[in-house]
Parts: sequence; C-alpha cells; structure tokens
Amino acid sequence: QQFFHNSSPLKGKNVLVSAGPTHEAIDPVRFIGNHSSGKMGYAIASALQSMGATVTLVSGPTQLPTPPEVNRHDVTSAQEMLEACSIYFEKSDIIVMSAAVADYTPVETAIQKIKKSDTNIEITLKKTTDILATLGKRKTDKQTLVGFALETENALQNAQDKLKRKNLDYIVLNSMQDEGAGFAGDTNKVTIIDRSGEIKEFGLKSKKEVANDIAAIINFHQV
Ligand code: CTP
Ligand code: CA
Repeated sequence: QQFFHNSSPLKGKNVLVSAGPTHEAIDPVRFIGNHSSGKMGYAIASALQSMGATVTLVSGPTQLPTPPEVNRHDVTSAQEMLEACSIYFEKSDIIVMSAAVADYTPVETAIQKIKKSDTNIEITLKKTTDILATLGKRKTDKQTLVGFALETENALQNAQDKLKRKNLDYIVLNSMQDEGAGFAGDTNKVTIIDRSGEIKEFGLKSKKEVANDIAAIINFHQV
C-alpha cells in the first residue's frame, strides 16, 4: 500500500497513455475492430493526472468523455496510433500502452463501398507494427514503459514473454478467464508483473480502482 506524502507526486512528469480499440478500414463504411471500450486506459490517464502528471491520451474510437485536464489525441487506425505515440513518446517519462491495437489490417482499402455479389469474398490482411515493441526498442533508462497483455490461455507465461520481448518495466495481465474482467464492463481483475519477475495479483475491482493500483506502482517506481 502506498501513502503519498504530497498530493501531486508526479508533478513535472509527462505521461503518454494509449487506449481504446483501433479501426482498420475495409471500405468507406466498414472496418475491422474489437470490443475494447477504452475504459481501462481512460481511468489510468485520469489516475495519473490526479497525481499531478501532464497526461496525453492517444485514443482510438470510444464513446467516453475526455478525463478532466487530460490532453486527448484521437486516432482511428493502428498506423495513426503508431505515428501519434511516436511523437509524444520522446518527451514522456511514463508510457502506458493499454490500447487494444489491431494486429492485422487490410492490405487494400476499397475506395468505394464494396457491393455484394453471389460469391464469397476474401480480404487479405497484413500485420500492423507493434507500437509497444517499437517504443520498447527506443526506451531510455529514464523512461518507465508499461504494457498490457490480454490472454485466454497460458496467461502468466505469455505475459512474461511479452514483458521480455518488448523490453517493458511492467506488464498488466488481463485474464479473460475471470468473470467480471475484460473489455466491456466496469470491473477488471489484473496481475502485474515487473522486470525482476515479481508477480502481484489483484482482486476483482472497479476499473477506477485497478487504475489507482497501476498508478501507485508506477509512482513507486519513480522514487
Ligand atoms: N500492442 C501495440 N501494438 C500492436 C499490438 C499490440 O502496441 N500492434 C500492445 C498493446 O497495447 C498491449 C500489448 O501490446 O499493451 C500486448 O497486446 P496483446 O494483444 O496482448 O499482445 P500481442 O503482442 O499483440 O500478441 P498476441 O495478440 O498474439 O497475444
Ligand atoms: Ca494483439
């Protein structure tokens, strides 16, 4: 448990948070997306802002209001999210990538709406750039980089592999096996793993409380 000796422990720190899904356009009216609501990332942005940090939120399409005093930069696709995050990354002390970025995007986006026909159609997809891994390669000793992992099987091992592979300081594991945890709802259950391999398991709580737990661990890492 953390006790803050002052109310703005992160004053002077620049923070970058990514949140929400990305939408990958198939044609002018259709996209490939996922069920991310953005709630977890928005709550983290809000928690870190409340601790005095200057927070930029790079957000995919969500239905959420901008948290008070947070700078919001809206994007749609994984490529746009990469470009926006790359800009803010350089001057960020703390980076939390909670967005559910599409792993694949259509090779081609049709300029006109695709008309239906009597045959099956195929959409060829190519891999997107892994934003978190890209930032992990650029990370300096002064920066704290936090990633998420969404797993449906072999969760701990997969999360630990991601932490190493992407050069993270912390990874927040969202286990889809737990009831009440995941994309859409207001609650979540996470496990946070650090570079040394230390594992902290948290109980089921509101996304706001989970955000405060994550923010407290990040703050502890700063001092
Ligand atoms: N991530 C990212 N850019 C991508 C894909 C993922 O920055 N193109 C980030 C997410 O924001 C998250 C972390 O990587 O912080 C893990 O995402 P996840 O989907 O769990 O893992 P992947 O590395 O994409 O692997 P897989 O989906 O195969 O499990
Ligand atoms: Ca993925």
